[in-house]
Amino acid sequence: MRTAIITGITGQDGSYLAELLLDKGYRVVGVIRRHSSPELQTHRIDHLMSNSNLTLEYGDVTDLPSLLNVCKKHNPSEVYHLAAQSHVKISFGQPSFTTDTIATGTLNILEAVRLMVPDARVYLAGSSEMYGNEFDEDGFRRETTIMKPVSPYGCSKTYAFHLGRTYRESYDMFICNGILFNHESPRRGLNFVTSKIVEGAARIQKEGGKLSLGNLDATRDWGHAKDYVVAMWMMLQQSYSDDYVCATGESHSVRDLCEMVFSKLGMNYANHVVIDPEYYRPLELHDLKGDPTKAIAELGWETTYTFESMIDEMIEHHKAR
Ligand code: GDD
Repeated sequence: MRTAIITGITGQDGSYLAELLLDKGYRVVGVIRRHSSPELQTHRIDHLMSNSNLTLEYGDVTDLPSLLNVCKKHNPSEVYHLAAQSHVKISFGQPSFTTDTIATGTLNILEAVRLMVPDARVYLAGSSEMYGNEFDEDGFRRETTIMKPVSPYGCSKTYAFHLGRTYRESYDMFICNGILFNHESPRRGLNFVTSKIVEGAARIQKEGGKLSLGNLDATRDWGHAKDYVVAMWMMLQQSYSDDYVCATGESHSVRDLCEMVFSKLGMNYANHVVIDPEYYRPLELHDLKGDPTKAIAELGWETTYTFESMIDEMIEHHKAR
């Protein structure tokens, strides 16, 4: 039986990945941080807790000894490193914490694997934020596009990306960087714009009221997290390790998203959305569109959700709450 370690198992991606790996017969070890209210911590994986192949271990990506111990104890063949301070706007307010968790955290994971289980295959969660406002002539970002991040989050992810590549080449380790564009789901935290809009519109439909948002003109390439965790797994099943963009190739503005969600709920977004500069970022990544050609060709990856079917699923979820 193969053992996989997942950091960030309690997050959106971690929970879908845990489901996928348990379904495939893995023993899954999730690393979780000590939390003052543990009863609030595991809601995304509560439905998996009775599975005897799932084990949770306390640890933290900023605490190297805890990672060394988990690797030594469980001897994983695959390590999926998803833990991070993942909110771009918050990274401007908490730049040190963001850097500690993402940059130093990735260094610690790579060292723990190198020292304890050097043959384990490692997935690192890179992000389209690494590109900043750079893109190719055709408007797409791909594996070869220049990286020039515009947030502390993006800078830390770029460090982690290059560190992964450097460890791969220096130590002959199997390390893949996913370069994931935005991926959403009903499990998405409510401070990301997709969930905020869907939850807000569902609440306004029942109770009335307003929804405060920031920049409506930004565009994003939004896919479904459930599809993206399949790509993570596929990367670690190849005969060589490499870096892959995961995206849909389609982009929509935040305004388009508002229009679609409110109109599906029988409302006009213009009557309910108010702009609050509080949600603006000191630097914005204006437009995002990724080219997943390499992941499709080399991994055989394909998406099963469209933008609309993903939004429909999120609406059903938030309407029922
Ligand atoms: N969060 C948020 N809240 N964003 C808003 C709001 C608001 O009220 N109003 C407008 N936006 C705009 C942001 O300015 C940004 O342009 C866009 O909506 C998307 O914001 P988020 O949903 O916060 O996502 P993100 O693109 O910054 O980052 C997400 O995707 C990255 C991959 O590209 C995160 O999941 C990152 O962790 C991930 O790496």
